Amino acid sequence: MSKIGLGIVGGGTIAQRVLRHLVQPDVAKRVSLTAICDPVAERARAAAEKFGIARCFNDYQELLACDEVNAVTIASPINFHFQQVRQALLASKHVHCNKTMATTGAEAKELTRLARERNLRLVPSPGEMLRPHNQYIKEVIDRGEIGALCWAVCGAAFGTYHEDERERQGNDVLTNIDPSWYFRKPGGGPLYDMTVYSLTALTGILGSVSRVTALSGTRIKEREFRGKMVSCDADDNTVMLLDFGENLFAFAYGTATGRVTQGFSGNYFGTRGSIVGLTMNGQPLDYPGADIVQRAARVSGDPTVGNQWLLPHINELHRDLPEQHVFEDVMQLIDWIAEGKPSPVTPEHATHVIDIIDAAYRASSTGQTQVLGTTVEAA
Ligand SMILES: NC(=O)c1ccc[n+]([C@@H]2O[C@H](COP(=O)([O-])OP(=O)(O)OC[C@H]3O[C@@H](n4cnc5c(N)ncnc54)[C@H](O)[C@@H]3O)[C@@H](O)[C@H]2O)c1
Repeated sequence: MSKIGLGIVGGGTIAQRVLRHLVQPDVAKRVSLTAICDPVAERARAAAEKFGIARCFNDYQELLACDEVNAVTIASPINFHFQQVRQALLASKHVHCNKTMATTGAEAKELTRLARERNLRLVPSPGEMLRPHNQYIKEVIDRGEIGALCWAVCGAAFGTYHEDERERQGNDVLTNIDPSWYFRKPGGGPLYDMTVYSLTALTGILGSVSRVTALSGTRIKEREFRGKMVSCDADDNTVMLLDFGENLFAFAYGTATGRVTQGFSGNYFGTRGSIVGLTMNGQPLDYPGADIVQRAARVSGDPTVGNQWLLPHINELHRDLPEQHVFEDVMQLIDWIAEGKPSPVTPEHATHVIDIIDAAYRASSTGQTQVLGTTVEAA
C-alpha cells in the first residue's frame, strides 16, 4: 500500500522526540511526514525544516483540510485533546493521541463511539500492555503464582520532571517550550500525565475497576520555571482507592513528590508472594527478554531503559532515541491502518482509565464513592 500521510499536531517536546524516530529509514518507507501545526508558527516552521515535514501551519483546521493527511498524531497539551481528536475523526482521519485523549469519562466515551461509528482507527497512548513485563505479570497473577492477590499499589509523582526537560532550557523556538500547562486546569496534574501509565498497566493486569474513592487537591500553589513563578491550580496531590470486586483493592497516587513504587510499575501482594516493580519474591522477573533489559540497565544505570527495547517496532535504529514507547504507539496506528492489524492499545481501555481519573476527582469533590459504568473492554 502507498505511504500513510501523517500530520503532527503540536511541535513541542514529545513531538520533537518522536520525530527523531519517524525520520528513520524503516519508518520513512511507510510514513510520509505530510504536515505539522502549532499555534507558535515559528515552532511549526522550525520543526518542519528540521525534520523535513512537507507543510506547516499554525491552524489545526488547515492541517485537517489537507487531503494528503490520512492520520494525525496529537502532541498538544492535554486540555486540547478531546476537541482535536473529535475534529480529526469528523474529518475522517485516523488518530494516535498522546495520553490522555480526554479529561472526562463522558468525553472519552464519545471519542470511542465516534471512531467505531466512522470505522476509523484510534490508538490512545500509553500502550502499557504492549510491554512484555506487564503481560508476564498478568500471566503470573492469573496462574495464581503469588497465591490469592489481596491488594496492589501504583502511581507516580511529578517532581520537577517537566521543568527540567532539555527541550525547555534553550533560547530558540524549538527549545524554549513553556511547561506551565502541566500545572493548570483543565488537563494539568500528575494523574493525566503520569499516573495514567500506572493505571493503564494496573487495569491491563487486574481488569476493570468497579468503584473509586479519593482525596485530591493542589498542594503546591506555585512552581518556578527558568526564574519565573508559575501559578498552579491543577490537583497535584491525589490518593485514590480502587475496588476490583470480590474485595480485591488497590491504592493509586498522583502526587507532586514522593513515590512508593518503582517507575510506573505497580506492586502486587498475594498470599504466597509479591511482585514489586520488576522483581517477584525478591528475584528479577523472568519474562521473555528480561536478560536484555537487565543488560541495558547495567550499561545505562537506568533500571527501566531496556524495557522499551522489547516493544515490537524498536530495532537498532530506535534503541538510542528517546520515548520509544510513544513511537511504538504511533506505529501501532500505522500497522492498523496499513495492514488491518488491530492494535491491543484500544480506546475502550483508555476510556476506562480516564473514567477512573474523572471518578477520583468527583469522589474527592463530593465525598461520595463513585460507581463506574465502563470496563477495560467496553466504553
Ligand atoms: N514531555 C514528555 O516527557 C512527554 C512524554 C510522553 C508523552 N507526553 C504527552 O505529550 C503531550 C504533549 O506534551 P509535551 O511535553 O510535548 O508538551 P509541550 O508543552 O512540550 O509542547 C506542546 C506543544 O503544543 C503546542 N500547542 C499549544 N496549543 C496547541 C494547539 N491548540 N494545537 C496544536 N498545538 C498546540 C505548543 O505551542 C507546544 O509547542 C501531552 O499529552 C503529554 O502528556 C509528554
